Amino acid sequence: MLSLGFLCLFLLHQSVGATLQLAAPPSRQVLVGSRAILPCMISVGNASLDLNYLVVIWFFQNKEILRFDNKCFSSTSRRSFEQQEVDNGNFSLALSNVRSSDEGVYTCAVVYSPEREDREIRLIVLGKY
Ligand SMILES: *[C@@H]1O[C@H](CO)[C@@H](O)[C@H](O)[C@H]1NC(C)=O
Ligand SMILES: *[C@@H]1O[C@H](CO)[C@@H](O)[C@H](O)[C@H]1NC(C)=O
Repeated sequence: MLSLGFLCLFLLHQSVGATLQLAAPPSRQVLVGSRAILPCMISVGNASLDLNYLVVIWFFQNKEILRFDNKCFSSTSRRSFEQQEVDNGNFSLALSNVRSSDEGVYTCAVVYSPEREDREIRLIVLGKY
């Protein structure tokens, strides 16, 4: 059962910046039952990130699971962004109560119009039975 929530930010327009860059590790290992953070850090050179131009979508096994768009976040009971982190370009996926079925490939896909980048992160769940 999914409870889908939305949360929106209202920010002032800032100037559009430079080249989009993503930082994310190729894989993460986490114990079953614990909380996983799948890092995805966005930067645009020396410019500050303008959230008006930003869309971030997380995919799990090619299916969309989370989205930040038009300054709104989606979230489900177990998967979310940390709202207070996004100003830092931190769009890490927080995954609570990890299950063995969460193992697989996650993709952090970012559009900073007109640029786009994505990174794949493999989640490995340890201690599953
Ligand atoms: C970023 O900073 C470097 C020097 O630190 C400068 O050469 C460059 O022009 C700056 N780029 C932008 C987009 O401001
Ligand atoms: C990014 O946010 C996550 C929480 O979602 C936090 O655990 C992590 O430390 C943050 N990373 C950085 C580099 O600030």
